[in-house]
Amino acid sequence: MKICLPGLLPAQLVVDLPEIDAQHEEIFCRIESLKTACFESGHVPVAEFEALLDYFTMHFATEERLADEAGLDFVDHARIHDDTLRLLRRALTEVIRGARDAHSFLRYCEYWFERHISEDDRLFINNLQSSNFMPSPGFWQGGDLQACA
Ligand SMILES: [Fe+2]
Repeated sequence: MKICLPGLLPAQLVVDLPEIDAQHEEIFCRIESLKTACFESGHVPVAEFEALLDYFTMHFATEERLADEAGLDFVDHARIHDDTLRLLRRALTEVIRGARDAHSFLRYCEYWFERHISEDDRLFINNLQSSNFMPSPGFWQGGDLQACA
């Protein structure tokens, strides 16, 4: 098991909500670990790829919970999450079958996630911060970075 090191979240993608920033960094860490694992061994660790998508699912649920708690309209953003998860799960199935390259999959995950944070999430966080949102206890403290799969 590999421990994620801080510093994989580019400064321009920090949204200043510790829980969300920690999850974003964890996702970049998992993508980076998978790139290394695939490059070094040429093997596709299927369980770790599936764990990455499970982590995306958990992260999206966190954003959806926060939007719900703040009473924000999150329909369009949630649709982006759902569409992306469907696309990534289909693409991962192709990786597992050998019909798609694992590195391409990871590069796409990284590219999509960077764009999603800088466009969709930033807008969401701005709306969240300008709402009368009262976070659940512990929210502003964020979470510790978790171990990579
Ligand atoms: Fe999002």
